[in-house]
Amino acid sequence: MPSKVTSAALLGVSAYGAAKAFDAFVAPGQTRPQTERASQLRGRPAEQAADTHSWAIGAAVAVAGAGLARSAKRGAQAKTERAATALHAHAKKDVLLATVKALTQPGKGLLAMDESNKTCGLRLASVGVENTELNRMRWRELLLGTKGLGQYCGGAILFEETLYQATTNGSTMVKLMTDNGIIPGIKVDTGLCQLEGGLPGEMWCMGLSGLKERTDKFFEQGARFAKWRTTIRVRNHSQLAIAEAAHGLAHYASICQSSGLVPIIEPEILLDGEHTIDETLAVFEEVWATVVKTMADFHVMFEGIMLKPSMVTPGKECKDQATPEKVAEYTLGALKRRIPPAVPAIMFLSGGQSEVEATLNLNALNQSPNPWHVSFSYARALQNTTLKTWAGKDENKAAAQAKLLLRAQANSKAQMGKYDPATAQEDAMATEQMYVKNYVY
Ligand code: 13P
Repeated sequence: MPSKVTSAALLGVSAYGAAKAFDAFVAPGQTRPQTERASQLRGRPAEQAADTHSWAIGAAVAVAGAGLARSAKRGAQAKTERAATALHAHAKKDVLLATVKALTQPGKGLLAMDESNKTCGLRLASVGVENTELNRMRWRELLLGTKGLGQYCGGAILFEETLYQATTNGSTMVKLMTDNGIIPGIKVDTGLCQLEGGLPGEMWCMGLSGLKERTDKFFEQGARFAKWRTTIRVRNHSQLAIAEAAHGLAHYASICQSSGLVPIIEPEILLDGEHTIDETLAVFEEVWATVVKTMADFHVMFEGIMLKPSMVTPGKECKDQATPEKVAEYTLGALKRRIPPAVPAIMFLSGGQSEVEATLNLNALNQSPNPWHVSFSYARALQNTTLKTWAGKDENKAAAQAKLLLRAQANSKAQMGKYDPATAQEDAMATEQMYVKNYVY
């Protein structure tokens, strides 16, 4: 349980202020103390009640009476305890670190295949396949059953349907993937919605309500990591949108960790627009500064998370596009300025880049040692050629799986900085752009 001495209490602010400040430190995933528990604690001295909401109110009174020096000493001790709690005493430390270790082996990345059923349907429709449960099952089974995929994709992010889905031969998707060396992950956000109070068209990400119960169940079902994606525009974004994105991600992360799931932190900075790479850089740094601070406020264990940023690139409609070297220079510079080395992994999204472009950029990002495992968590940039090769036909399944393996292998090499486009023999389809304006995941 995190300690609850806040700077507000140390400064002797009002009881209301202290209570509000405490709210920011309620152990994520836990509800505020129940009335009964709170009233039991109300009669105790402030020191004993230091981990409750009622303490926050009592503390402001106690601070005024006992003097700032004593409180400051108590505050310093409590701060030390809180910092220690983050790593050494986290209840799920072992399982979180074991998952991170497995997913960040050299050459490994993630396959993102957590499109909602609606988005999956659009992808299927693009190759003339009807969006039925059976066809989603056939498609996802093709992906997860690709022999050897686990060598390059240590995990796959699933949509909820897939986590509970059978395979066509009556086994389960979870068994199919784990037998293939792929750890199940799960998308837990429930999608984007207009941010009231923000600018027109700005979104916020839903899914915190009931999340703790869901993440406990997902863990039981075999999931070991999770994803939450929210979006920020480069031009025309509000501070509110950034604060809300950071709050959602940090609270989600803390809840996931309490259930033993490694959270993937994905504030996607959208490719849509004419903005320059310098504009993207400024927003990237602003967003990650806020997300990192908010995660610290929620006592997220940084060793047990994975980040999923977009690369720092110009907008898709910008006249000046950037080379992989420039993308790498901007992206790594920004990451080094914002992300602590305690974070184990940066698993990029592809965001509408072509398959080859996403591989080339990842390769450029790994030309010198990084403080984190820098890898891929691509959806479109892993699936595109495979989907087109398959086109819903059983007779194409083996050829489609071969394409997926090749793509995953190319990204695996890029993770180690060893992808060579001259010898890669890329498919023409792999250079196709997959950018879709206002893409919904
Ligand atoms: P893309 O690689 O298609 O951007 O998707 C990754 C993802 O998981 C987005 O949430």
